[in-house]
Amino acid sequence: DITNPFFTTVARGVEDVASEAGYTVTYCNTDEDESKEQKNIDLLLQQQVDGILLVPTLSKADAINYIQGYNLPVVVLDRRMPNANADVVRCDSEDGAFQLASYLLELGHRRIAILTGPEGTSTADDRLAGYRRAMFEAGLELNEDWIFRGSFTQESGFEMATNAMRLTPSPTAIFAANNFIAIGAMKALQELNQSVPEDIALVGIDDLPEALVMFPFLTVAAQPAYGMAKEATRLLLARIAGEAPAQHQEIVLPTELIIRQSAGQPLL
Ligand code: RIB
Repeated sequence: DITNPFFTTVARGVEDVASEAGYTVTYCNTDEDESKEQKNIDLLLQQQVDGILLVPTLSKADAINYIQGYNLPVVVLDRRMPNANADVVRCDSEDGAFQLASYLLELGHRRIAILTGPEGTSTADDRLAGYRRAMFEAGLELNEDWIFRGSFTQESGFEMATNAMRLTPSPTAIFAANNFIAIGAMKALQELNQSVPEDIALVGIDDLPEALVMFPFLTVAAQPAYGMAKEATRLLLARIAGEAPAQHQEIVLPTELIIRQSAGQPLL
């Protein structure tokens, strides 16, 4: 979804490495839809591209095996693909979420609602896993009612946050599993006259460009989107040139916890 600043940053990293090596880049939006993903792969095959960087909709190896069936180099970006015989370059969503949720627990939060993406999308699942591990390691009971599943869109973030605020007792903190969910949640909290962080804490995965002035204060676990994209593109170019190690590798980059104001002070 190239309207997402995370993916436009990824696109910039891909293009900076690819153009340096004399390649142009074709971008396809799959919108977490397997049929769109398949359609775009077929279009790229028809265009006889030299290689594909894929952010897979699901962690199933089908799309990878299909591409490799055409002897085309492919590198998986941003998400896990445990059973594929392919290189993967991604950020550590589970640990990033663990750090972010642990930070909320250190502030004294106990009723933390998590708003995450669809089941089967590894970044959505891994962020939920990191949140669960933080609660477990703090010895806290996890109320499954505090877990909301939607999509990585602002509309879904708005809806999930609205539903989370209907819980009784209501949460004292909202954990948004990506930037668009955080933006949608912020809009929902504004509609409910809930100010952040005075009335409720809000944190998210993904940093947001300074350009999004409504978010100069968001506490995040930032993903190194640009660096991840450059690393994946270098690996794909090496595969295209037949210079990459035969053994595929998984490169996992750490997130960075950036504490600003949106989670407020320690609870009294
Ligand atoms: O906002 C984009 C990030 O959230 C990416 O990691 C993508 O996989 C989604 O999970």
